[in-house]
Amino acid sequence: MGCAPGSWSQYVSRKIISSHHPTKSGLCIGLDLQWTPPILSHSNRIHFFQQNIMDSSTLPLLEQILQNLKCHIILSDMAPPITGISITDQSNLENLIMKCTDLFPSLLLSSKVKKEGKEKEIDGKDINGKVKGNSDGEGGIFVCKVWRGECEVNLKSKDKLGGLFQSIQLYKPKASRNESKEGYLICKGYLGGN
Ligand SMILES: C[S@@+](CC[C@H](N)C(=O)[O-])C[C@H]1O[C@@H](n2cnc3c(N)ncnc32)[C@H](O)[C@@H]1O
Repeated sequence: MGCAPGSWSQYVSRKIISSHHPTKSGLCIGLDLQWTPPILSHSNRIHFFQQNIMDSSTLPLLEQILQNLKCHIILSDMAPPITGISITDQSNLENLIMKCTDLFPSLLLSSKVKKEGKEKEIDGKDINGKVKGNSDGEGGIFVCKVWRGECEVNLKSKDKLGGLFQSIQLYKPKASRNESKEGYLICKGYLGGN
């Protein structure tokens, strides 16, 4: 999500496609408000769409492309236009990220968590709402760009991303300037729901 002009997708293409390992043959779908130049060397495995994630046609479009396939990873590098008003910028970014959660139930691989009444179960074991297990989880992964600080804390809360994943960690890439508030939340082990 937010794939233009395409650097992340170049990186992803190297991770999911390898001519030396024929079984390494993933699929990458990118969306952005702006047009993204195609990666011609892998045009059958990397597909870009000029599409607003906020638009109601986005989920049906992705469902049609994936035909019941589930994603191992959903990446969001989306960033709203900056207004300079911190509270507005923060809430605009949070809205974009929370919009991604609408895609999860039908598109993201989920761990085998069943809900019965108010209790969650993993493989039939009652854990009284506490979800344990491998933090790498069987469930899919969501990675999203955030502004460190309040935006990060809000998104980690139980009623937002915190309630949907087994583990969430903040990652600050070395390439990102120290003074920049940019960071990435790495959310592992999607539990289902949104
Ligand atoms: C930091 S740039 C992405 C850079 C890109 N990931 C790359 O590696 O080349 C942020 C992108 O988010 C996109 N974006 C912002 N709001 C969006 C929305 N509502 N729907 C889709 N894309 C959006 C912008 O158009 C912009 O291209």
